[in-house]
Amino acid sequence: MGQPLDLLPATALDYRMRAQQRLPRFLFDYIDGGANDELTLAANVADFGKIRLKQRVLRDVSRIDTSSTLAAKPVSMPVVLAPIGLAGMMARRAEAQAVRVANAAGLPFTLSTVGICSLAEVQAAAGKPFWFQLYMIRDRIAVKSLLERALAAGCATLVFTVDLPVAGMRHRDTRNGMLTGSLRGKLGKVRQLAARPGWIADVALGGKPHTFGSLAGLVPNASDLNSFKAWIDAQFDPSVTWTDIEWLRANWPGKLLLKGILEVDDALAAAAVGVDGVIVSNHGGRQLDSVASTISKLPAIASAVGERLEVYMDGGVRSGVDVFKAIALGARGVLIGRPWIWAMAGAGASGLQDLLATFKRELEVAMSLTGVSRVSDIRQDLIDS
Ligand SMILES: Cc1cc2nc3c(=O)[nH]c(=O)nc-3n(C[C@H](O)[C@H](O)[C@H](O)COP(=O)(O)O)c2cc1C
Repeated sequence: MGQPLDLLPATALDYRMRAQQRLPRFLFDYIDGGANDELTLAANVADFGKIRLKQRVLRDVSRIDTSSTLAAKPVSMPVVLAPIGLAGMMARRAEAQAVRVANAAGLPFTLSTVGICSLAEVQAAAGKPFWFQLYMIRDRIAVKSLLERALAAGCATLVFTVDLPVAGMRHRDTRNGMLTGSLRGKLGKVRQLAARPGWIADVALGGKPHTFGSLAGLVPNASDLNSFKAWIDAQFDPSVTWTDIEWLRANWPGKLLLKGILEVDDALAAAAVGVDGVIVSNHGGRQLDSVASTISKLPAIASAVGERLEVYMDGGVRSGVDVFKAIALGARGVLIGRPWIWAMAGAGASGLQDLLATFKRELEVAMSLTGVSRVSDIRQDLIDS
């Protein structure tokens, strides 16, 4: 995994290693970890590795076009930056930096409900539409106000996350003393911080304020994972059902995608309530450990609702070759979570820019060597099974 630091970073895993060198351990573990024994986290990645492609030859691949359309907007390749809560704790004003990089690369950026930068700050940095991710909080007036602000900020696509009625058990956070507030935990955190003076100068001091920008006034202190978790436990609404999706549909005029669908029945229910798309996701293995990998769940969902809905997937996408595999198995597009935040935390905006360029090049090469020139030609018959 990764590489010595005197070499240039090339892959998502190289940036992962850089992020590990730059971040205090408790923050690196927060990004990197999954729920419980991290079985699903590992499966998300491992199952991509098991998929074999067919090499096809002599098919004029002199003009490769990776562009596509996602949620009715043109994109340079079918890749979206996934919502990452607390991103602005990993790099200075990370959400504002990332939206600029994504726009320059021709890709959508998704701002998390629990992002550090506010809708307004991201709008100012973006200068054009981005996606907004919503968690349902108990106070529906606050939710309505968030939706209004998202719309006013130019968000045409809303990603509603449905796989977090409660937060998963992330044992790395417990080990780092993140969830107790005990003296031992606090001392451990101080030691971890002392080992990362660069992060302290750049992010802790240079990247203030560390509040949940879009939830200003609602959450006490974003930089403290302990109070963040307490706020989630108190405010995220675990009573949400399909009726709330109908409410959301009625209150959101733009595109609506449900994120966290893993079963065909749920995808069919999503189609029935009139959403525009589903994101096959297990939250990057951070929620229910032991659910199947998302890439293994994708084909059945794509064949059940792919004609009616846009079907996206995320979880374990680490390269442009993985993007190719997901498209071949029925995805309209993929979201990447850890890769973008590793790159941003490890090497800043230029790191993310380089990583996205690498994904695009990897996708182009995979298309060339499988003999397809357009994204719409990437089909299941290119999977060697
Ligand atoms: C550090 C971290 C924070 C996340 N925060 C959110 C969030 O606020 N909202 C959300 O819908 N998903 C969140 N996710 C899940 C991602 O959007 C995405 O589903 C997942 O990262 C995809 O898997 P990957 O990391 O293997 O690409 C988060 C994931 C990580 C790693």
